[in-house]
Amino acid sequence: MEQAANSVIGKSKTNVFSNSRTPTAKLAHSNVLKKETIKVNDKNTMDGLSLLQNIYTNVITACFFDPQYRGIMDKLNYGNEGARQIERAELGQMSEETIKAFINEIGRVLVPSGHLFLWIDKFHLCEGTSNWFRETKFRIVDLITWDKGKIGMGYRTRRKSEYLLVLQKEPVKAKGVWTKHDIPDTWTEKITDKEHPHQKPLNLQKDLIEAVSGKDDYIIDPCAGSYSVLKACRLVSRNFIGCDQKTI
Ligand SMILES: C[S@@+](CC[C@H](N)C(=O)[O-])C[C@H]1O[C@@H](n2cnc3c(N)ncnc32)[C@H](O)[C@@H]1O
Repeated sequence: MEQAANSVIGKSKTNVFSNSRTPTAKLAHSNVLKKETIKVNDKNTMDGLSLLQNIYTNVITACFFDPQYRGIMDKLNYGNEGARQIERAELGQMSEETIKAFINEIGRVLVPSGHLFLWIDKFHLCEGTSNWFRETKFRIVDLITWDKGKIGMGYRTRRKSEYLLVLQKEPVKAKGVWTKHDIPDTWTEKITDKEHPHQKPLNLQKDLIEAVSGKDDYIIDPCAGSYSVLKACRLVSRNFIGCDQKTI
């Protein structure tokens, strides 16, 4: 985060806050995917790690990763999930080793200075995720709080927010890479068309995709759930590659 901040300090605003992007090479699908059976701009039912392993190196501009973790449920000692939690529990939780394996592969497929948007809950935010990135080329460059506009559960305070960690593959830089400068770091957006228990905000994801990528660049989501990232990509003419182990 400091590195990115330092790059802003001492440089002229017009440079760092410029809206012009360094152009990226336009790639055919066959230069991005090793297997023709994986669909671009569509849903794929498969394991996310296999999807990543079938993508060539240094070809993806940004990745949204929303792992299925038990963080909050473990902290609250939910074991025998009640009716409200059964739908969530059925989604299959990821171990720390699996999350690290995904992050390693995401690091491989992203272009240099590409972005990883990682959704985390409040316990991972407080207790840290740095262990996941220790041996990678990722650096944390920002954090966005999503205010869901709706109150949830909680033994003490009731949850109303989730967090999006913004990481960048080295070399860390904003100029020529991040070109949208009106995104606040607290974002309120209510899900109105709920298709999945963990569905994420369409407009925030759309704005972030616009911020870090150009038309026809490739955006991935290896745990796509309701495919909110696919919908966002369609709105801004980016190529989407993603999957979920289940069809929802
Ligand atoms: C937190 S949800 C994602 C929600 C999504 N971001 C959205 O906006 O709808 C996580 C998803 O990961 C899927 N999942 C869990 N393990 C997976 C794996 N190994 N490969 C692919 N998908 C997986 C689950 O089925 C679940 O739909």
